[in-house]
Amino acid sequence: MDAAQKYLGENSMAGITFGLLFQLKALVTNGWSTFALINKLRKLSSSMTDFRRKELQKYPVVGSQLSFLDAMISRGDLFHPSIMSKELLVFALAATDTTGNALAFTFTLLGMHPEIQEKVYEEVITEIGRDTPIEIDHLPKLKYTERVISESMRILPPVNMVARYINKDIQIGDKTFPKGANVLIYTLALHRNSKYWPNPEKFDPDRFLPEEIAKRPSSCYIPFSWGPRNCIGKVYAMMSMKVVVANVIRNFRVSSKYRSIDDMEMRCFITMRTINDIDCHFSPRN
Ligand code: HEM
Repeated sequence: MDAAQKYLGENSMAGITFGLLFQLKALVTNGWSTFALINKLRKLSSSMTDFRRKELQKYPVVGSQLSFLDAMISRGDLFHPSIMSKELLVFALAATDTTGNALAFTFTLLGMHPEIQEKVYEEVITEIGRDTPIEIDHLPKLKYTERVISESMRILPPVNMVARYINKDIQIGDKTFPKGANVLIYTLALHRNSKYWPNPEKFDPDRFLPEEIAKRPSSCYIPFSWGPRNCIGKVYAMMSMKVVVANVIRNFRVSSKYRSIDDMEMRCFITMRTINDIDCHFSPRN
């Protein structure tokens, strides 16, 4: 059976429905604590916006390269303070949960594949060294490390689905997706489709060698989604993850008790994580 189908069960809609019901149950069970946490986050983002507004009054920033928050504050005529803090929250959550999960998965996969971890270590030591602070110019040299992160986001995409509203009828094969429908694009299934990814459950960073990338349609790999509304932070995300992976792997050995991704019990709903604590251990290198 195709790996994606195996993951979803025979019927992908049944898989998605099950996921939604699971989340609904979690929301009902943890409703109050979720509500309290959301309130805390709202307060945090509005206090950050207020703080920055006062700072800007004291020390105005000049020039066109304003940060996202400064740009919103400078156009107070367009952004109501409550909208500003909501936008800030979207940014903070979209940036942290995703990157955190991607890193947790990457380290766990490296723990499961010591030979691949050793190659990352060798690349980091050769290109940067053990103690040199990592600078932006080092990052393009970490080609193998980048392949590892890309492959990790293929096999375990931190955002496992994206949603779209259809604004005109779309014909795909013998199926019509009608205008007005909402659809979920299941990234996890796409990333494990054996038509594009032979032996899809194998963790193989060399799938991202330039000659391998050229063999498949680019849209079959969408960890940051696709099209005009894709992830706005994708370049920064790759840079920050390369810095973290390089810095951790040159200082620590990572291990995991999992032998394959099937040992990781996942829960999937927009973002993906393990149901229980992830098994990933770090021990200092001598
Ligand atoms: C591994 C890290 C990340 C992954 C896998 C990821 C993935 C995604 C995906 C799949 C979307 C949905 C886009 C769509 O609906 O088509 C998204 C949206 C978004 N991401 Fe990321 N992201 C990551 C890191 C970041 C970072 C670091 C930032 C900010 C610095 C960021 C900011 C955003 C924002 C603001 C949106 C909403 C865009 C919009 O629809 O207006 N993301 N991301």
